[in-house]
Amino acid sequence: MESNGANVGLRLVLLGAPGAGKGTQGKRLSKAYRVPHIATGDIFRRIMEYDTDIGREVGECLEQGQLVSDELAYKLVVGRMQEPDTENGYILDGFPRSLPQAELWQEYAEDINRPVDAVISIEVADEEIVTRIVARRQCATCGAIYNLKFDPPPDPQRCPKQDCNGELVRRDDDNEETIRERLRVYHETTEPIRAYYDELGLLQRLPADNLPPDAVYKKIEELLNALGVASGGGTG
Ligand code: AP5
Repeated sequence: MESNGANVGLRLVLLGAPGAGKGTQGKRLSKAYRVPHIATGDIFRRIMEYDTDIGREVGECLEQGQLVSDELAYKLVVGRMQEPDTENGYILDGFPRSLPQAELWQEYAEDINRPVDAVISIEVADEEIVTRIVARRQCATCGAIYNLKFDPPPDPQRCPKQDCNGELVRRDDDNEETIRERLRVYHETTEPIRAYYDELGLLQRLPADNLPPDAVYKKIEELLNALGVASGGGTG
C-alpha cells in the first residue's frame, strides 16, 4: 500500500545482521517517510562492477564476506549526503558497521545538523538468517527483494511487479559459507556498536525471530511513533 504522505522526515539507522531484513524494511520505510534509503551494500555492489582498483578491492571484500575499509564506507555515505533528497532525513542500512564508522557518523551528522533520531536493531537468530539468505532473490532491474521460502514470487525467475518483469538473481555473497563469515564479522565488529548507541540513548532493540515482514514493519512504526520522531502516515 502506498503512503498517504501525511508527514515526512526521519533520520534512522537500521542495524542488524546480514539478512535480518534491513533492506526489506528500509525500502518500505523510505516510501512511507519519503526519505532516501541509503544502503552501503547496494552502493558497493555498483562500485565493484567497475574495472578499477577500488572496484576490484571492494569486490574481493564482498566475495569474502569481509568489511570494506571504514574510510571508504564513511566517504561514500558523506558523498551521498550531498544529494538534495537527504534534506528531510535518511535511512541508513548497512552503515555504520563498526565503532569507528559510528563515531565518525555521529560527529558528522551533528556537524551538519542532521543528527540520528533513532537506531533500530532488528534482531534475528543466526540459523533463521542462514535459511533466509540462501533463499533470497533480488530483481536485477528494480531491486525488489523476494524470498523463495518466505515470500515466493509466482515465477522464481521473474519479478512479479507490474511493468518490471526483471530477472530475479541470487547475490554472489549469498552462499552458506560466505553468510557464516558475514555473521561472524557482524558479531565481532558490528554488534558492539549497539552498546555505543545505547549509551547515547538512541538504541531500540526489536526482537524479530519468526516475525513476518509486515509485523516487523508495524513494530518499527510503533517504536518511531512512541519516540515521536516522525509519522509515516501509511504502511509504506
Ligand atoms: P549489505 O548489502 O549491507 O549486506 P548485509 O548487511 O549482509 O545485509 P543483507 O543485504 O544481506 O540483508 P538485509 O538485512 O538487508 O536483509 P533483506 O531485507 O535483504 O552488505 C554487503 C557487503 O558490503 C558486506 O558484507 C561488506 O563487505 C560490504 N559493506 C556494506 N556496508 C559496509 C560498511 N558500512 N562498511 C564496510 N563494509 C560494508 O532480507 C533477507 C532475506 O530475508 C530476503 O529474501 C527477504 O525477503 C527475507 N526477509 C526479510 N524480512 C523477513 C522476515 N521478517 N521474515 C522472513 N523473511 C524475511
